[in-house]
Amino acid sequence: MSTRIKKTARPLIIANWKMNPVTVGAAKKLFVEVRSALRKKKPLAEVVVAAPMPYLSELQRLSPSQSIGLAAQDAFSEKSGAYTGEVSLPMLASVGVTTVIIGHSERRSLGDTDASVAALTAAVAQAGMTAVVCVGEQKRDKHGQYFTFVEQQLTAALAHVPKTKLKHVVVAYEPIWAIGTGAHATAEDVAEMKLFIEKVLSDTLGRTPAGLIRVLYGGSVKADNAAELSATGISGFLVGGASLKSKDFVEIVHHASAYAQR
Ligand code: PGA
Repeated sequence: MSTRIKKTARPLIIANWKMNPVTVGAAKKLFVEVRSALRKKKPLAEVVVAAPMPYLSELQRLSPSQSIGLAAQDAFSEKSGAYTGEVSLPMLASVGVTTVIIGHSERRSLGDTDASVAALTAAVAQAGMTAVVCVGEQKRDKHGQYFTFVEQQLTAALAHVPKTKLKHVVVAYEPIWAIGTGAHATAEDVAEMKLFIEKVLSDTLGRTPAGLIRVLYGGSVKADNAAELSATGISGFLVGGASLKSKDFVEIVHHASAYAQR
């Protein structure tokens, strides 16, 4: 597959804090560090923090102008009702959340299914929020079966999104073997999978609607590989471990911005 490199207009960099940090005080401190650094040197990139649920409304107060956007790491597709333990999209919107990560592999391993991912993706897009749909293989095989796996996850996730709402969908390619392992996918792997995902989207949705969907990469993105990975033409990153250190995260944001600006 050829690796045609297309520059992205405004990269989207999402900090996926996962179940960290352990107190609201530490969460606010980390957020303020990132905010201050980005105020000193404004990035081209759009920056979003996906924080644990209890911290979101506190963080909203720290970013009233939404210069840093807020994301939830999951949500429930129903609007309200008898769903103990769940959090709805209107609740998230009411505390300033604009973006929802959907079907992260860590959620899938805790019970998310293609059906629940599809229902939530449709609900988030319908609500006009940004749906960040995670796809990615467990491991790579030499016959390329992982492409089929990613294609199935992708088509299942988008099955109920109306065409007019596709602009609210972002796909994050997150190979499970690269998450939290320090072994990121190579720039070649990322560029190839990006093209593959774009082809699947274009074949299933039509070229123009598919063109509205941005493709991000996640999996051991660090300050020292962000420049190389940005050069693949990817539209941004989902950053786990490195997003918990403000300096590293801000460096990643600037690397992605610098590449898009060149
Ligand atoms: P990582 O996590 O950057 O720690 O590999 C990425 C993710 O899970 O989104």
